Amino acid sequence: MKICITGATSGIGEASLHLFAQNSDHIIAIGRNEAKLAQLKLQYPDLVTPLILDIRDKEKVTKTLSSINDIDILINNAGLALGMDPAQKSELNDWDIMVDSNIKGVLYTTHTLLPKMVERKQGLIINVGSIAGTYPYPGGHVYGATKSFIHQFSLNLRADLAGTNVRVTCLEPGMVKTNFSEIRYKGNHEKANKAYENIAYLTSEDIAKTIFWISTLPSHININVLEIMPTAQSFGRFHYERRSI
Ligand SMILES: NC(=O)c1ccc[n+]([C@@H]2O[C@H](COP(=O)([O-])OP(=O)(O)OC[C@H]3O[C@@H](n4cnc5c(N)ncnc54)[C@H](OP(=O)(O)O)[C@@H]3O)[C@@H](O)[C@H]2O)c1
Repeated sequence: MKICITGATSGIGEASLHLFAQNSDHIIAIGRNEAKLAQLKLQYPDLVTPLILDIRDKEKVTKTLSSINDIDILINNAGLALGMDPAQKSELNDWDIMVDSNIKGVLYTTHTLLPKMVERKQGLIINVGSIAGTYPYPGGHVYGATKSFIHQFSLNLRADLAGTNVRVTCLEPGMVKTNFSEIRYKGNHEKANKAYENIAYLTSEDIAKTIFWISTLPSHININVLEIMPTAQSFGRFHYERRSI
């Protein structure tokens, strides 16, 4: 099979690349980290085709991917959260980057590759959403909203793809230890590490195994949405402002 993975240079995307490579699948590995892509190519010379791409670059993404006609699985995984400050204290530029990466990047890859899947009457798109798209939390504002977009976009794709044999899954993880927090806290290792302290978090391999499992399902099965959390993560109560009334 031919798999296209965005954000294949770290975390969930990289772990997925290793699993598919172990299964002898061919992988189009999209990322910005040239050194990491070169290393992955060296590790799997016959299986990995590295594409140095920023998924926010509409022209480059559409131009590069339009020459590839036989992708079986598109894993829209590249994405990020920036900042944990409340909305009123956050950077507008961070909001732009999250929208451009988590929403528009997914649109560019999907818009380019989807018609070819429909033409071939086969294909699977796995969009990596997040529990942040369903459950609000302080500091989640734009990141969570981008993942809500991914949730609804995935379901709406299903509606349009009726009768095409092309499948779409929105996979929504909870806490996974990757480079995610390092990016979110902008290189503040202490804060990034604290986020995972004494928690039996999910690993990128846990999520990669789930992605791989979805990919092995027979073509008459479509997982619409799959939410997955560490057992150690669950829900909190509502916040109430208490004052004399
Ligand atoms: N970790 C979690 O707790 C968690 C939970 C739920 C959902 N998710 C989602 O899982 C996905 C993968 O994140 P991760 O946890 O594996 O984090 P990660 O280790 O930071 O990996 C993110 C990957 O996305 C790539 N990327 C980001 N922006 C890009 C761009 N503009 N163009 C190309 N590649 C880009 C990164 O490449 P660079 O090195 O070039 O930045 C990296 O390869 C994200 O969509 C994230 O929102 C993560």
